Amino acid sequence: MANTILVGAQWGDEGKGKIIDVLTESADIVVRYAGGNNAGHTVWVGKKKYVLHLIPSGILRKTKLCVIGNGVVIDPIGLVNEITGLQKIGIKIGKNFVVSETAHVVFPYHRELDAQREVLKGKNKIGTTKRGIGPAYGDKVARVGLRMADLIDPVRLEEKLSVRIKESNSVLKALGAKPVSFKQVFADYKKAGEFLKPFVTNTVVLLHDAMSQGADMLFEGAQGTFLDIDHGTYPFVTSSNTTAGGACTGSGVPPHRMDRVVGVMKAYTTRVGEGPLPTENQVISDLLHGMGREFGSTTGRARRCGWFDSVATRHATMVNGIDDLAITNLDGLDTVENIKVCIAYRHGKKRYDYMPNDVQVLSECEPIYAEFEGWNTPTDKCKTWKQIPAKARTYLNAISELTGAKLYIASVGPGRDQTIFV
Ligand code: IMP
Repeated sequence: MANTILVGAQWGDEGKGKIIDVLTESADIVVRYAGGNNAGHTVWVGKKKYVLHLIPSGILRKTKLCVIGNGVVIDPIGLVNEITGLQKIGIKIGKNFVVSETAHVVFPYHRELDAQREVLKGKNKIGTTKRGIGPAYGDKVARVGLRMADLIDPVRLEEKLSVRIKESNSVLKALGAKPVSFKQVFADYKKAGEFLKPFVTNTVVLLHDAMSQGADMLFEGAQGTFLDIDHGTYPFVTSSNTTAGGACTGSGVPPHRMDRVVGVMKAYTTRVGEGPLPTENQVISDLLHGMGREFGSTTGRARRCGWFDSVATRHATMVNGIDDLAITNLDGLDTVENIKVCIAYRHGKKRYDYMPNDVQVLSECEPIYAEFEGWNTPTDKCKTWKQIPAKARTYLNAISELTGAKLYIASVGPGRDQTIFV
């Protein structure tokens, strides 16, 4: 399958975990390249549900090497819990899992700062996952962060952490938040460092060695295009490059070694947290929540829902270079009579066929819709393209054409066997 980057083409939660799990079958290595444990990738294997936050979903298949690249920010306590949790249920984690020594570490003061900044923003809050992601990337860019290589060396950890905690505590106190205890954090992180040390390595060299031996790699994106720090609906975004370019910077594999980009998108639109969502619609939100769908896998928050927005997904195709599309959650629309698809925006007298960069303008845009007849038939048992109702096929073809990329997978449920290759 060569080297494939998989990205979310909307606002995250597109069902990437499941598609990654399916595509991993034909990859040798799965690489996570951005974000942290703000992500929650859900994978069903038979009747068992797994929610992965940091470890690539490839871990659920034996013989695959899973890599956390340098672009990820790691909460080591969360990672230790994730590893031991998976081991407890029989998933093997040993030589099949490595972590970059240059990935940055998330500390409790990052989480405190994240929470406190949200409080201070009041009604303008971002709606973060409060996992400390923004402050951790902030330290990375300010060149004061600690990396995994520091975590696994207790002498360096003590030295660098004491400096960081002094500064962070003075900021926390000034903001009216609780300072963190150096003694406690050092003890907890030293222990986590000892546990994680065998997994920490130079992943750039490892990936290049593997490539020279012909390994096929899958780059697992987290969050989605419109949560990207550069290409998303700033400031209502996460703090990393979630788009395809992030796969190169976040792993050390250069652009000319990437062969294909797969974009994952839902057959409708969702978003968690604040920020513009032009096609947001209460009727579709109520319908999906009533079906028990669209609650966040990391925070449990109800996701905001809306009609499919092809202006947004066209933009995603552009900035990621999406070749192939995996469209998920088709079955979520099985009972909808008339399905709307946003084909352009109206802002005052101006029509937009692309996404305006100005978040204020975007939040004032009215969607211009095309309508499609619903199929009113359950699709979750469909196993082939031909078994999908004709009206649903028309819909899938239309949204892939509007998005500007080839339809590759239609997904009609969370199971591996509910994946139709078109
Ligand atoms: P942060 O990444 O926790 O800083 O949150 C910033 C924004 O990204 C918030 O709107 C979050 O809800 C959103 N976000 C972060 N991670 C995910 C994810 O994995 N899926 C969906 N939204 C996410």
